[in-house]
Amino acid sequence: MERDTKSVHVVLIGPPGAGKGTQAARVASRLGIAHIASGDMFREAVANRTPQGVQAKAYIDRGELVPDDVTVAMVMERLEQPGCREGAILDGFPRTLAQAQALDRAFREQGTRVERAIYLCAPTDELLRRLAGRWLCRSCQAAYHEVSNPPKVTGQCDRCGGELYQRDDDSREVAQRRFEVYLEQTAPVIDFYRAEGVLDELDGARGIDEVTHAILQTVRRACGSI
Ligand code: AP5
Ligand code: MG
Repeated sequence: MERDTKSVHVVLIGPPGAGKGTQAARVASRLGIAHIASGDMFREAVANRTPQGVQAKAYIDRGELVPDDVTVAMVMERLEQPGCREGAILDGFPRTLAQAQALDRAFREQGTRVERAIYLCAPTDELLRRLAGRWLCRSCQAAYHEVSNPPKVTGQCDRCGGELYQRDDDSREVAQRRFEVYLEQTAPVIDFYRAEGVLDELDGARGIDEVTHAILQTVRRACGSI
């Protein structure tokens, strides 16, 4: 089936550690579309001490969600940039029903839509193991795992040579709150896309390459040759 639109939009949903960031980066590069990660955008704003970053930091530190109005405005602005003309894979957005509805309204006005929403799941003990061993690049945000996906040189990003660090919100207490918030506020987004008929549930507990392959297959099946 050929696509009838010029761009493709894919949403990646899943609990903390499901592999959204890892997979979104790989899939975006394979499909030649933008990778929009609301968490990465907030972390960059925090690092740059922008007014948005100062506001977001208090929420991120507690494992709570940044208010919908701030988040929606930030992602919509990003979606309007030229790099998104071919489409985008949205990583970590939308994650409340209000965000999903706002995205739906904006896309309808532009004559586009979310072609596929992919729900990545994995058992909780695996998610906790992934968060505890995660290291991120300060410069390009690439994600590594000290056991399952280690960098070639300890502490250094393979892609850009940047310094690797661990996220403060990956501490056990904050991660616990992030899981609760996910169940309370993000689970309804899965039902929203299921009702829209665009949801695919994929086993995110498999190896990184296998999951990438499954996502690409799912998107290509839904959107035709891209
Ligand atoms: P965000 O950064 O989005 O965090 P999250 O949703 O909790 O998800 P993570 O980034 O922790 O996990 P991931 O699924 O990306 O996993 P990854 O690929 O890194 O959000 C952080 C905060 O920002 C929120 O708490 C909130 O405050 C705010 N925020 C962000 N978006 C918001 C929004 N829309 N609304 C309001 N607030 C928002 O993988 C994890 C580890 O596992 C890595 O080490 C990786 O190497 C490894 N790994 C990945 N896949 C595999 C695999 N298949 N096998 C083995 N290891 C794997
Ligand atoms: Mg992430």
